[in-house]
Formats: sequence, C-alpha cells, structure tokens
Amino acid sequence: MHISIRRRDFIKSAAAAGFSAVVGDKLLASESSLPQSKAAVKPVVVSSANGLQATAKAMEMIQQGADALDAIVAGVNIVEDDPKDNSVGYGGIPNEDGVVELDASVMHGPTGRGGAVASIRNIKNPSKVAKLVMERTDHVLIVGEGALRFAKAHGFKEENLLTEESRELWLKWKENLSKDDDWLPPHDFESKDIGEGLKSYIRNYGTINCDAIDLKGNISGCTTTSGLSYKIPGRVGDSPILGAGLYVDNEFGAAGSTGRGEANLLSCSSVMIVEYMSQGKSPEQACIMACERIARQTKEKRLIDEKGRPKFDVRFYALNKKGDFGSASIWSGGKFAVNTGEKQSRLAESAYLYKREPRASN
Ligand code: GLY
Repeated sequence: MHISIRRRDFIKSAAAAGFSAVVGDKLLASESSLPQSKAAVKPVVVSSANGLQATAKAMEMIQQGADALDAIVAGVNIVEDDPKDNSVGYGGIPNEDGVVELDASVMHGPTGRGGAVASIRNIKNPSKVAKLVMERTDHVLIVGEGALRFAKAHGFKEENLLTEESRELWLKWKENLSKDDDWLPPHDFESKDIGEGLKSYIRNYGTINCDAIDLKGNISGCTTTSGLSYKIPGRVGDSPILGAGLYVDNEFGAAGSTGRGEANLLSCSSVMIVEYMSQGKSPEQACIMACERIARQTKEKRLIDEKGRPKFDVRFYALNKKGDFGSASIWSGGKFAVNTGEKQSRLAESAYLYKREPRASN
C-alpha cells in the first residue's frame, strides 16, 4: 500500500500551527535536533483538542517557574475532574460492566523517570497516581486492585466515578448490544463482517495527552484516559504504556497519542516519533510517519476499508527540544490545543494521512 501526504495540506497545517515546515525533502535549520541554549528556550504546551484549559493552566504554571511535569499534571487534572468530559477521569464512559476504569502515564524528561497506572477504579486523578508511582516506588506500572491500594496508601479517597450521564450512556449501549462489541467469534484473518465495534457514534477512545517544555528547557508529558468506552473489564489501552501512548526524551522531545490504543500498542508510536525527531524530523513529520507505520501494519480485513486504509483514527501530538510542535492523525479533521505563552490556548489543525470523504447521502 502506498501512502503519501499531500504536500500542500502538510505545509498548510504546519503554517496554521505557527511553526516551520519542510521545503522539498530538506529540513529547515530550525528542524535541527541539537539541544538549544538556555536563552533560546521557548516554553510550549501541546495537547489533544480537549486540553484548551489544561494547556493554559500548564503554561501559566510554567511561566511562574514550575517544572513541566508539575504543570502538565495540574492541567490534565482539570479535564480528569470535569464530569462533562466523558473520555477522561470522573464521568469517563465505563467498561462493559458499567464500571469506570482509568489508565494514565507520566514521563519526566530531566530525570528520565516515568510512572503509570492501568485499570484503576474509583480514583479520579490517575495522572497523580502515575506520578506517585514514578516518585515513590521502584516500579513503572501498577495495575488494577494493586494500583487502587497504592493510591489509598497515599491518601487518595475512593469515589464513584460514574456520573448519571455516563451511566445512561452505558445503559443505552448495553440495551443495544449487537456485533458492536469486542467479543469476536472464531473467524479467519480475512473476515470483514465481524467486530465492527469501531463505530465512532457509539464507541470512543477519548483521552488527553499533554506535553510541555518549561523555562529550563526540560520536557515532560502525561496521557490520561478512561480508555475505550464499554471495553472488556481489564482492557488496557496505549495511554499507560510508555513508548506507546507517551514517550519523552529530554534531549529530543515528547510525543503522545489519542485514538485506537490497540493500533498504537502494536506500533509503539510515541517512542518512534521521538526517535524520528532525534533523526531530524519535525514534530509534524514524525507524527505523520507514525500514522504511516500504523496504516502499513494494519492488515486485518475487519479493520480496513475497501482501499486498505484503517477504518479507525489515531492522533499524535509532539514537540521537540527547540519548542517546535505538531500533530497528525490518520484521518483529516483533527485538531490539537497549543499554548506558546498566551493567556488562552488555541486550537490548530492536525496534519493527516487521508482526507475524509464526505458521506454519500442516500
Ligand atoms: N488511546 C486510548 C485508549 O485506547 O485507551
């Protein structure tokens, strides 16, 4: 399968996002991955589109001298606490049993440490628990019951995370069960008509990823989510898996993701994006390369359309040591939040691999 980015679209979205783009096949000088001098540090915060408030909060703290990770976690806590965001924290859409299970990870560039929790129940702010795993254990990832006990040992209070709105959404789904769930009958690799549980109107993979560079030029990131709505209990997505849903290397940059975690678990895209940036690719180019990698690796008939393209979406967000940033998704129409020092964050368009075609009306 040959995949190409439309050059005009690529440059347009780069310009919209306010950073330098690619000319021909050559990278502009600004794409260098050399560590920057202190004087040149440009603090930047990027996140998925649901992070307008989170990025603004993080930037406010960074400008007051906060470490990037402290600022990011304070930012994403706003989204985790928001009952109206059904994709993260409190009010997240539950698993197929009606129980909210959360995943989160953090990475702290300057110390090269990371922490994560997966399938944690009854704790509103898994990002804070992930940070504590990093700071107060010799481990990187704690899951399920153990994660809950660890959080309680550190004074977190158990809460019911299911809001009336998310319970009603779950009940509606439960009452309309069909082949849209995750239980697949025996089938061969070529099967097309099973496991179509990817319909965005009923399932979602909503998540927030937030990455920042602070005044010292240090880079950190966090990804937090309630994961795939109505998932099989215990299902873990890409968000708490370092290298997949989040990766930070303080010398080169940070990357994170939202969207179908299963695809990203199979491609470990965040570490690849940071690696591509270390080789001189811009954040946006690196995100596009990760989308291409997923498209190339997706071969199951039930997951691809008639042209061989993934039926699902995955979106990446990245920034490099110089403060350049970008985002790309498999399908067009995506946006991301960015703050380069303003009081209010703005949305910019993500680059993309495939343009969504308007649906034919019948
Ligand atoms: N990307 C979030 C998830 O799949 O759980």
